[in-house]
Amino acid sequence: MHDLSLLDDPGAVAPIAFAPPPLVARRPAQLVGNTPLLWIDQPFAQPGKGFFAKLEGRNPGGIKDRPALHMIRQARGRGDLLPGAPIVESSSGTLGLGLALAGQTYGHPVTVVTDPGMEPAVVRLLGSLGAEVDQVEVPHPRGGWQEARRERVAQLLAARPGAYCPDQYANPDNVVAYRPLAGELTAQLGRVDVLVAAVGTGGHSAGIAAGLREASPGLRVIGVDSVGSAIFGQPPGTRLMRGLGSSIHPANVDYAAFHEVHWVAPAEAVWACRRLARRHHASGGWSVGAVALVAGWAARTMPPGTRIVAVFPDGPFRYLGTVYDDAWCEQHGLLGGPPPQEPRTVRSYDECRATSWTRCTEVVDPLRRSPDVLVAR
Ligand SMILES: Cc1ncc(COP(=O)(O)O)c(C=O)c1O
Repeated sequence: MHDLSLLDDPGAVAPIAFAPPPLVARRPAQLVGNTPLLWIDQPFAQPGKGFFAKLEGRNPGGIKDRPALHMIRQARGRGDLLPGAPIVESSSGTLGLGLALAGQTYGHPVTVVTDPGMEPAVVRLLGSLGAEVDQVEVPHPRGGWQEARRERVAQLLAARPGAYCPDQYANPDNVVAYRPLAGELTAQLGRVDVLVAAVGTGGHSAGIAAGLREASPGLRVIGVDSVGSAIFGQPPGTRLMRGLGSSIHPANVDYAAFHEVHWVAPAEAVWACRRLARRHHASGGWSVGAVALVAGWAARTMPPGTRIVAVFPDGPFRYLGTVYDDAWCEQHGLLGGPPPQEPRTVRSYDECRATSWTRCTEVVDPLRRSPDVLVAR
């Protein structure tokens, strides 16, 4: 059983090891974690080959319920967040939902700073859960929407004494929060050979990889990013996909952990999302589609018996007006044929500007930061 007292004691150290779920949850936060795995094979891989999808959409809000609760618990424990003080954070939605849960759990008002790309359903859901949504109206001339959101967060923090920003891009607690997820995978599968994970702040790929390596030292980590994302050195561009990708270079990205990175285009993610829904019932949004595409390729090309885990960060509902809407997809030119069987492979991130599925076998921090500037693992 989870230790119920952890929710009541603001100073309690977070549980960072795998723990079985309670039979009866007394607080919604106790519904976070212990998500199931689903085997995915055709049409992504031939019969007998496939990958395990970790269904993080089964959490109350999505994968970011985990770091939201952990970051807030730790901030309270350190005294960075005083009882009842406001929480302000930039989010494309998933962390916002997690913070709404953390705010209810620990008694803090929550403001989620976002941009006009946030799906109306998420704006409404956040409001229903008691969070305030603050939408910036124009992108930053160089740093895009993400930078505009960060500037707005700074303004709100200055205007609200005692307000706390978890800063998911650089907060090490965002990484540590995924230790239990790694523990769950080890309990579910024993050995894991390949981890396929989307990258936005870098939190879940870094935390799960670090945790998994303890039981699976030979782990191979494949990062999945969006075309137009700057994280792995590509020039920033307009991005239709939300969740994965960034116009900045977050300190939480553990560049050294990745063996390769794949950039995926929106039409390719849409194809994968829709195939997942049709064939396996379990689906999700942009990052789920992109990760499934890459995990399917890994399953096709790696020896039988390779244990591949793909992290599915959320479920499909907030994407009903985008990924799963024929008219919207038609309007954005996303309903072409299936993606190629293989990505284009390049040796270095600056070899080309990726506009469709591209794989790079050498991963470096494009800012060449020293490891002590990046968040320590
Ligand atoms: C739906 C979704 N997928 C993937 C990611 C990327 O995860 P991370 O920030 O842990 O790298 C995010 C981040 O916001 C997300 O919301």
